[in-house]
Amino acid sequence: MSSNHTLMGVTFIGCGAAAPETIVLNDELAQVVDTSDEWISSRTGIRQRHIGHDRESLAGLATQAAQQALEMAGVAAEDVDLIILATSSAEDLFGSACRIQAQLGATKAVAFDLTAACSGFVFGVVTAAQFLRSGVYRNVLVIGADLLSRWVDWQDRNTCVLFGDGAGAVLMQGTINPDRLLGFEISSDGSQNCCLNLSFKPELRELIPGVVLTQGKYQYITMNGKEVYRFAINRVPDAIDKVIHQAHLTSADIDWLILHQANQRIMDAVALRLQIPPEKVVSNVAKYGNTSAASIPIALTEAVRAGKIQTGDTIATSGFGAGLSWGAAIFKWGN
Ligand code: UT7
Repeated sequence: MSSNHTLMGVTFIGCGAAAPETIVLNDELAQVVDTSDEWISSRTGIRQRHIGHDRESLAGLATQAAQQALEMAGVAAEDVDLIILATSSAEDLFGSACRIQAQLGATKAVAFDLTAACSGFVFGVVTAAQFLRSGVYRNVLVIGADLLSRWVDWQDRNTCVLFGDGAGAVLMQGTINPDRLLGFEISSDGSQNCCLNLSFKPELRELIPGVVLTQGKYQYITMNGKEVYRFAINRVPDAIDKVIHQAHLTSADIDWLILHQANQRIMDAVALRLQIPPEKVVSNVAKYGNTSAASIPIALTEAVRAGKIQTGDTIATSGFGAGLSWGAAIFKWGN
């Protein structure tokens, strides 16, 4: 893009969330695998999850969440410049973002998918900020949406009790006022890639003599829960500490901590390490389970709608998961 653009700040002015209607309680899951409400709620804090049915689509949920974000921001769909869809469960490997662009009527927006699993929303916010700060774009929708129920092995009690479906969105806008994104840090460690996967299993096929190609299918989610747990409680507080420092703040300045909603025990451990009191920790993992890229914007939206998060509040957020990847950001809510 041309160098004529004025450098801008970033604001977060709208949010929205959507989840499938169907709710599955822990007790109901105990009819599917050898588990119990007691085990799931005490180890994870999860009590229920929303599960998409055959007529619900990722793009549909994402569009609903995005429409709410636009409405709150008072921005028309035609004025959106960029749509970033953070997802690991696109309905089309070529991407689902363009379908959302069409459903929204965001005719001038460019749209693309970003895959960074449960870190996807934070990675999306950071990516959006680059386009806004450079002045290239003015209105960016960042959507986190996942329907991992499609990719869970419902015979595997280690994973199937954890995940749920949903979508959340924020509208980020460029501003000449002070930048509301106060700091960020995004990281990857591929040496631990095997801890959490939704991998493609190739099947060999000889096309013509001597030319063997691979076709196959994606496999269900596999996870080494203990390793991912250890990774999260080590990396996440460090990353948040760094961004607090970048922002010239202390943990006492954080009004709300919104972590990726994977496990209540992880949220408690991270908050304790950062000395952030439990009443500042936004949690809805009990209601939704782990909705991957959607979990942070859904939690943000619920807290804003409930009137807990107010304009000017300082929010620390962190996403973490497959890759392995993790990211943290500090931002002030509203104009
Ligand atoms: O979004 C991506 C990020 N993902 C995460 O953040 C997940 C991080 N990991 C975790 O949250 C936890 O490790 C889990 C919730 C997945 C597991 O909790 P844990 O306390 O680490 O349990 P565990 O895997 O050590 O399993 C303890 C026991 C085992 O039995 P034995 O071997 O001690 O007899 C498991 O077989 O619990 C058993 N178990 C279950 N029992 C009843 C595992 N899953 C279940 C279940 N119901 N659903």
